[in-house]
Order: sequence, then structure tokens, then C-alpha cells
Amino acid sequence: MNTIELKELLHSMSMQEKIGQLVQLSGDFFGTDEVSTGPAAKLGIEDWVSTHAGSVLNVMGAKKVLDIQKRHMEKSRIPLLFMADIVYGYKTVYPMPLALACGWDPDMVETCFRYTAKEAVPDGAHVTFAPMVDVSRDARWGRGMESPGEDPYINGLFAKAAVKGFQGKQDESEPWMAACVKHFAGYGAVEAGREYNTVDMSRWRMTQEYLPPYKAAIEAGAKMVMTSFNTIEGIPATANQWLMKDILRDTWGFDGVLITDYAAIQELIAHGVAQDDKEAAYLAMEAGVDIDMKTPCYANELIPLMEEGKLSQEKIDEAVFRILSLKNDLGLFEDPYKGISEEKAKEEANASTHRDYARYAATQSMVLLKNNQVLPLKKETKIALIGPYADSKDLTGLWAVYGDKSKVVTLKTAFEEVFEHVQTEIGCDYLEDTSTLGDFGMIMNINSGVQGTKEENLKKAIELAKWADVVVFALGEHVLQSGESGSRTDLTLPENQVEFMKQILPYTKKSVVLLFNGHPLVVTNWIDEVDAVMECWYPGSEGPHAIVDILVGNVNPSGRLTVSLPYTVGQCPIYYAAFNTGRPMATSIHSGRFVSRYLDCPNEPLFGFGYGLSYHTCSYGNIELSTNTFTKDERILAKIKIENTSDVKGEEVVQLYLRDIAASVVRPVKELKDFKKVELNPHETKEIVFEIKPEMCAFMNQRLETVIEPGEFEVYIGPNATTLNKAIFRYK
Ligand code: BGC
Repeated sequence: MNTIELKELLHSMSMQEKIGQLVQLSGDFFGTDEVSTGPAAKLGIEDWVSTHAGSVLNVMGAKKVLDIQKRHMEKSRIPLLFMADIVYGYKTVYPMPLALACGWDPDMVETCFRYTAKEAVPDGAHVTFAPMVDVSRDARWGRGMESPGEDPYINGLFAKAAVKGFQGKQDESEPWMAACVKHFAGYGAVEAGREYNTVDMSRWRMTQEYLPPYKAAIEAGAKMVMTSFNTIEGIPATANQWLMKDILRDTWGFDGVLITDYAAIQELIAHGVAQDDKEAAYLAMEAGVDIDMKTPCYANELIPLMEEGKLSQEKIDEAVFRILSLKNDLGLFEDPYKGISEEKAKEEANASTHRDYARYAATQSMVLLKNNQVLPLKKETKIALIGPYADSKDLTGLWAVYGDKSKVVTLKTAFEEVFEHVQTEIGCDYLEDTSTLGDFGMIMNINSGVQGTKEENLKKAIELAKWADVVVFALGEHVLQSGESGSRTDLTLPENQVEFMKQILPYTKKSVVLLFNGHPLVVTNWIDEVDAVMECWYPGSEGPHAIVDILVGNVNPSGRLTVSLPYTVGQCPIYYAAFNTGRPMATSIHSGRFVSRYLDCPNEPLFGFGYGLSYHTCSYGNIELSTNTFTKDERILAKIKIENTSDVKGEEVVQLYLRDIAASVVRPVKELKDFKKVELNPHETKEIVFEIKPEMCAFMNQRLETVIEPGEFEVYIGPNATTLNKAIFRYK
């Protein structure tokens, strides 16, 4: 339809038809038994609402979707939109987003999500609730796993790549679905890392550190935005006019659809900014929220609000028009069943191209934290594979709700395919007490497969350890210990697993730990006792193949952390791009007690941003700048020679950070501005050239204006954020 036809349609709609568009319902209203992703509640809405509803939440499956749409079209002239949490893969599951980000390769992210759309669209998806790009600097928060990590720049690149991947070219050449960037805004900064908690920070900080990734998604063309659960400046995001109107619509020019998070309109009552459903609906409407996910507020209250003269017809029309436009962009008015096909869905699900890519992406996303000359392993090494993840399919994490778990490869299988002598013992469960975890509707049957008594299992594991040349421990969090509502105050591995490992370690010749987890973990209580550690995150359907690729050295690991791993949870929030303070520990004019530090722990994380080991080693030369001063229309070329000092081919992630020495507001001690992933043959030297552009020196002043102030800058180029390899230039 063209715009005129769409407008005609809008004007011909009854009020019930219009309000219906603003309501999103779950599968139970359409006769499916889908378990939802949030708290279930009886909505108390009249039948006309489901007759005219605009969209459906988390119902997938070509047959089901075609059937619901068909029944719907018998009663309505406006097709339904099917929206779902397709966050990092569909049937084929890719590594969790934090892991994908650790690959430092936006093109790879884009490809994963393009393949995701290829699987999900024929199975009924119109919109995915992704990418999630909340800057996440507090390891206690469970949802860090869904986020690319702690850095605005990395998150922005991820946002853009993800939108491009999901939405493709938006023509007939390939299936695409609309991306819904979330959670707008600042959800990653919940106080004390506690889920759904308050967020409060200056507009200055919010605008330059937390908003850029969402903005990047919108600049890349994301068609939808989801509000977050938290408050900002005392106003919940879903009713926050500064965020939704001033920033999103007026400053960024976003004209797509704005949806709430799950039940967030009604939660305005619990927040204490609305007296009842009616006021909640009013506030959300005033903020420009188009779709009410899973509450009766819009369904029941918008008509009375209009009748009372509190809400204009125009406001409703604007919201409805945005939704109709999205349906139109997706081609649903021409064909409500467009692109959906059971046959095609079957063909695409777990297609070998997608599986191969999932394996590749997993090899890129794992981060080798420690390697005391034990890895890579020879195929003839005698290996004991021990731990709750040894033969587990729980490798896809919390938000892979549509992942085909039956097709997840287990470590045991992958090890037996390659190593000549492998013996496996699960030995202990993920957790001894799961009673506090609660349910997460669509994620079920989490099971390590352990059997037998503790004593028997330990005895068997010790025997295997004595037999083996190398013990590989497969340990980690229980899947429900991270993700939504997965906040923790203790980030160590579950105690039963550590205890189990420590009882076996005295019998090992060499030990390797593979970690499976959503939170950045605290590993201080055992890391010195083992020879190697690899952070595998939740690596997805093909994770174990990728792990073996790395363990035998077919792939040289190149993943680098995009989040800090603290020494202890007491350091949280922790991130590299911090401000110096007036009493910086290393360089303060004061000494002794009165500097910014902890009495009982370093200030730095155990493993910081950008860190990761490879099988090769690399040396970095000095930085050479093409000039030491530059102005508005100029560039500086920063050159550095890097040398592979080993016999192994490998990839370096060469990272460039800037520091503004003195400005009108404080600036971080380092900020990532660019990076290059570079392949190096054994003993090869390459010259890497970065372009420093004036806009890299820009920041936000106290009046929230983006400015570049003249003065001195330090440029650092190295393998991670702790690099001290620097040069100085001046912006005039
Ligand atoms: C989550 C969102 C998700 C939505 C729909 C909410 O609980 O916060 O990230 O998209 O549910 O499932």
C-alpha cells in the first residue's frame, strides 16, 4: 500500500479496530498453549480486543502462525504481527550475545543474525525482540549475557551489525524480520545489579555512555524500540517523556513503533507513578508508547480516556499509523502469510550453513584466560572429561527460547569424535539447591544427567583423573542463574562444583577448566590451582565442536573480553573506562592510605576488558604518529608494528584507546575508539595503521553539547585495555 492508501485504511477503522492494534496478546488468547516469558496473569479484557488485536507475543511455528492468522483474517481486515524473542539464533543457536561480542567482529554478528532470520521468518517471525544493547558494567546483573558488554563503542557496533543482519535488504532477495532494539534505556545500570531495580544517573552520563548503542541501532534502521522496566530520574522509562519524546522521537527522529517491555504499563502502578490502570495507560500514551505488551491498560482504558477528553484521537491515530506502516513494510497487507512456509521452515532449521557458522562463531567468541603450557592438546592425549557440562545439552543459555535442544552437540560427543582416548564422568550436578531459581517458562528440562551418589561419583572421577594425562573440567552456572531475573550477589562457581574439582585436582597431571556461564564469573578461589581456563560462555548448538577445534589447535583462540571479570563481587560495578578521580591509586600526589583503592583487593579486575590469550605470542612496537598536532579537518595516522613471536599462525585484536588529559569535564582514563583484527603468520611482522579522526576526540560538555576541546590526548595501542604503549598528540 502507498501512504495514501494506508491513511485511508486508518481513517476507515473503528475505534475498537484502532485500539486493538495497540494491544499485544500472548498465545493463550489465540488458542495456543505457549508458555510465556513473564509472569502469567488473567488480563480481564473483552472479546473484541482479541478479535482486533494487533500483535501476538512469542508464538512461533509455521503451522500455528498460519492457522492463527487465517482465523484472525476471517474476523479482521488487518493482519496480526507475530513478535518473538529470537535473540541469538532460532533453531540453530549461536553463542550468547556477550560471547559473540568477544569475537570483535561485527560482520560475524551480522551473518549470525542474517541466518537467524532465514530460519525464523518461514516459521512465522515478523519482529524479533533484539538486539539488546544495554551497557552492562555490573557483573551481578543476570542479563549481561544478552548484552555485548560494558563498552558503548562495542555495543554500538554490535547494535548496528545485528540490525543489519535481522533486517537485511528488506526486499525479496532474502527473508528479513524487523529488529526491536531494547531495553530503552539504561536497564544495564540497575542499582546493585538487582533485577528490575532503580536506575539513576546524570543526563550527561546517560547521554554519552548509555544511549549511544540504542542510537546506533536506530541509525542502522531498527524498526522498533522496547521501553525498559527501570526508572530514569524517578520516572519509569515507559512513562518517561524525556527519553521517549525528547530523545527518541525528537532528537533521533525515530518514527518506528515503540513497544513496552512485558507488562511495563501496568507496572507504573507498582512504581508509584500511576494510581490505577487508567492513569498508567494515560502516562504511557503521553510518552508516545504505541504497543502495550500483555496488560489490559490500553485495551480497557483508552476509550474511556478519550471519552473523558483526556486523550486525543490524533494521538491514537499516530500510534496506529506507525503500527500499520510496519505491517505494510513487511508486506502483510498484500499477503498476511508472506514468507511463512512449513516446508521452508523445516529446510532452514539447522541448515548445515547455519550450523557451520555457529561453530565458527563459537570458536571466535571463547576467551582463553589462562594457559600454563598445556593447550593445545594432542589427539592421542588421554583425557578425562569431568563435570556437570561434560555430557550436557544445556549450552544455549537462557534466551535461546526456540533453540532446538535435541540438536545441541554435547562435549562428550565432540571429544569422542576427535580424541583417541576419552573417558567421561559427569560427577556432580550444576547446583545442589535449585529451590531459589524459580521457573522461566520456555526454558525447561535443565539436566546435567548426573546419577549415583556423591561418594560413588567422586571415586569414579578420581580414578579417571589418575588414568588421564589431562583432566578437562566442564563447569559453570546453572542456566537459570543468569538471564532475566538471574541477579546474583555471589559470582563464584557453585560451591558443590568447586569442592568436587578441588577433591580431584590432587590426582591430576594437568588440568583444564572449561567454563559455561552467563555472568562474568569470579574465579579467584580456584584459578591458581589449575593449568588452563577457557571461558566458553553459553556457546550455542555447535559449542562443543568449536571447543574441540580450539583444544586440539585447529583454531587458535582469538576471543577478547568485552566485559571485566572482577576479583570479587565487591568491586562491582567495574569497567575499564572509569574516571581517574582526584586521588588515583597509581599516580596520586598523596601516598599511603588516602588514595582511591580498596584495603583488601586491587582496583583492577582479575581479567580486564580486551584481555584474552592465544596460542601465538605477539610483541607490539612503539606508536608512530604522522603528526603530533591536528585540527578540525585533519587526521593523524597512528602506526604500530606488531610481530608474531611464535611458530603459530594467529589473530591479534589490536585495540586503540584515547584519553583526553584535560577537558571541561572529566574524561575516562581510556576509551576504546577503534580496533583491527589482524592475521599474522608465524614470525610475521605487520604494520598496522589507524586513522585518528577529530570526532574520536569528541565528548559531551556540561550543557550536553558534543564538543572537541583543544588540548592534549594520549593514544594507546595494544592487545587490551591495560596497555601502556602510548603516544601523545594535541588537538588545536
Ligand atoms: C523481557 C524482554 C522480552 C519480553 C518478551 C521481558 O520480560 O525483559 O527482554 O523481550 O519479556 O518476552
